[in-house]
Amino acid sequence: MKTTDNISELRQQISAWRQQGLKIAFVPTMGNLHAGHISLVTEAHKHADKVVASIFVNPMQFGVNEDIDSYPRTMTADQEKLIAAKTDLLFTPTPQIIYPKGLDKQSFVEVPNVSEGYCGESRPGHFRGVSTIVCKLFNLVQPDVACFGLKDYQQVQVIQTMVEDLSMPIEIIPVPTVRESSGLALSSRNGYLTEEEKKVAPALYQNLEWLAGEIQKNNDFLGLAKQAASYIDNAGLHTDYIHICHARTLQPASEDDKELVILAAAHCGKARLIDNLQVSI
Ligand code: PAF
Repeated sequence: MKTTDNISELRQQISAWRQQGLKIAFVPTMGNLHAGHISLVTEAHKHADKVVASIFVNPMQFGVNEDIDSYPRTMTADQEKLIAAKTDLLFTPTPQIIYPKGLDKQSFVEVPNVSEGYCGESRPGHFRGVSTIVCKLFNLVQPDVACFGLKDYQQVQVIQTMVEDLSMPIEIIPVPTVRESSGLALSSRNGYLTEEEKKVAPALYQNLEWLAGEIQKNNDFLGLAKQAASYIDNAGLHTDYIHICHARTLQPASEDDKELVILAAAHCGKARLIDNLQVSI
């Protein structure tokens, strides 16, 4: 696997592959890779001849009081995992390479509606940062397909909408969440959990499953979500939000909707955990 932080080198390799008629898949990440990321690389191989990954801890998607400085950086271990997963090329730019003018003077991409609410409300500016970096990385890598984990369900909808609205010729492949046997979704932020917190963190997903069962029987979506939030809090977490939504628009679900998603976020010690569950009724 070749690793480069250099845009010209990246473009040269991509254009050489293009000249050979090869199909390219892309897996953007912020590093600190776990089995969830590797499942994206495995999926990417099914759709293309060459797989490009990136590692870039994107300052534009972190709020002022968020964890950018303490965000785990584990480049050597990440490279080993990507090599084992047969990644063809790894792009590791610095913030200076990506945002040479600085964040304040940088153009940005903003996707309305699906970026609002939920994580968009708890983390103002977060999705602007995500859509901007993903757009920029798409322009650099020019992939045919790109894989994103469904753990970040709202992020997948934001990127899918950006690609449709801006006519980007890229197929977005959503990849199922990888979980521990307790049900806890794998996340780089699980590294912040203490041993005690690891025991209570699975309550988030357990209550999503409980709620998924209840909404098959009862369409008081607001009441049920409120009940689930109190169960999550009683388990020792602190619910940020839990909502039952239309699976594609992310608008609050109505009685007639058949394809739903439950979106939730909760604090557990220093970690802010997010999770979701799609439900058909
Ligand atoms: O999901 C992530 O790790 C990031 O939001 C992404 C898509 C790599 C953009 O920085």
